[in-house]
Amino acid sequence: MRVVILPDSQSVSIRAADIFCFVVEQYPDAVLGLATGGTPIGTYQELIRRNQTGQIRFAEATTFNLDEYVGLARTHPQSYWSFMHNNLFSHIDIATDRCYLPSGESDDIQEECHRYEELIEQSGGIDLQILGIGSDGHIGFNEPGSSLASRTRIKALTQRTRQDNARFFGSIDDVPQLAITMGVGTILEAELIVLLATGESKAEAVKNFIEGPVTSMVPASALQMHPNVIALLDAGAATLLQRRDYYNEVEQIQSALEGNHFL
Ligand code: PGA
Repeated sequence: MRVVILPDSQSVSIRAADIFCFVVEQYPDAVLGLATGGTPIGTYQELIRRNQTGQIRFAEATTFNLDEYVGLARTHPQSYWSFMHNNLFSHIDIATDRCYLPSGESDDIQEECHRYEELIEQSGGIDLQILGIGSDGHIGFNEPGSSLASRTRIKALTQRTRQDNARFFGSIDDVPQLAITMGVGTILEAELIVLLATGESKAEAVKNFIEGPVTSMVPASALQMHPNVIALLDAGAATLLQRRDYYNEVEQIQSALEGNHFL
């Protein structure tokens, strides 16, 4: 895993946008795995800016989101469908009929999960998956205890996650209890995974997933089993890492080798 510690959240957004540009420039029809939450918003803003100034085109790209709440209409302001349209899709030149999210309104959730897995497979798999991390170590909505081989399915959210997300809803009681999420196994099939973490509230989860054991109690720790993961952290999220100096040294050597490039 490549651990990149940057001074602040803005630098994390810019570096993540650089990676998107690198992938989409090479593969204009790239399949992009997208995430919701507070963390990727800065990256999406940077991508919108670059798209509007002609530095990146999304016209041929396909996207798959990690997850969606069950029981919210997609037009609900807090659905992830709304989040993605408001924060990215409506502002860029992407074909929205190739922007996929699981449907939390389906009558047959199991069938919907199966359909979503098939769509990912038919698209040729995800080239670049962006992830946030929950303060409990979740990725997507794979809460602690999730099978590390899991596929897209329905999950019950922990109280901690519902509390963390209450800020978007006004009250914890309004946060749905269930979501459809790509599984850990689904996520691990992406070609390249970039996990973003900012702020001290993520420091413990970051320490556990990078330097702790691989365990379903910290679903993000499964990323240790993937050959191509970049963790982009700001100083706050990196606070509890034991081997910070080593990661910084490696990064210096690596960027010198790459002429300041990131891959
Ligand atoms: P956040 O959520 O970006 O809003 O902190 C991250 C996550 O739950 O994966």
